[in-house]
Amino acid sequence: MKLAITGASGKTGFRVAEEALSAGYEVRLITRNESKIPDSIKGCERYELSDTNGVTLDYALKDCDSLVIATGARPSIDLTGPAKVDYLNIQKQIESCKRQKLKRIVLVSSLCAGKLIHPLNLFGLILIWKRFGEKSLQKSNLDWTVIRPGGLNENETNLKNQNVLFSGEKTQEEGSIPRRLVAKACIEALKTKDSIKKIIEVTSSEENPKTSMSKAIKTFSI
Ligand SMILES: NC(=O)c1ccc[n+]([C@@H]2O[C@H](COP(=O)([O-])OP(=O)(O)OC[C@H]3O[C@@H](n4cnc5c(N)ncnc54)[C@H](OP(=O)(O)O)[C@@H]3O)[C@@H](O)[C@H]2O)c1
Repeated sequence: MKLAITGASGKTGFRVAEEALSAGYEVRLITRNESKIPDSIKGCERYELSDTNGVTLDYALKDCDSLVIATGARPSIDLTGPAKVDYLNIQKQIESCKRQKLKRIVLVSSLCAGKLIHPLNLFGLILIWKRFGEKSLQKSNLDWTVIRPGGLNENETNLKNQNVLFSGEKTQEEGSIPRRLVAKACIEALKTKDSIKKIIEVTSSEENPKTSMSKAIKTFSI
């Protein structure tokens, strides 16, 4: 299975690549020309795109079976970033997947995507654009999963005691989760058929009971 990862230079993206390698996937990193990646994933196949127009993306996704999208607008004074990266660029990636007959996509979005009144929207209405990005995927007819994490952190100590709360759309509004566990959730989604066409919200804490994505999904509609 060849897995492409866009945004592979990001703090979640490189962890998705590391987790995919541990899970035995063949990994193709898709980054911008100037993106920096850590040594741990430097051995992976890498496509550096000078721009993310359809043709170069098509070339970068060729022969891949699945894609994890971990791109996201970096904080900046350019308030158009979220519209460009979290919506228009997601659309381009989806269209490219269709042309390349790549069927399985996991998108890293955010808790509260679609919510208007939220402090995060001070950055270019990011939660609104993220919801537009999700909707493009939902309309796509691809085998998609949206992972919506809470506030991301880089805490990697005591991960074993951090249990993930997996829940359905619009069920969590606060909480946090280490990026490592988001990366693991992306790989778990790829391996969990029941996650197809689902929006899955994820946060973590020591207090949550231990579960798996597949068990948790069974409780979503109850
Ligand atoms: N921060 C939080 O608490 C939080 C909470 C929930 C959800 N999220 C979302 O989770 C995802 C991962 O977040 P993160 O903080 O781990 O990511 P990050 O470190 O900010 O990485 C963002 C990635 O997107 C790429 N990117 C940015 N603009 C791009 C463009 N115009 N074209 C192509 N690639 C572009 C970056 O490439 P370069 O390396 O080249 O810049 C990088 O690989 C994001 O979608 C974020 O919005 C974040």
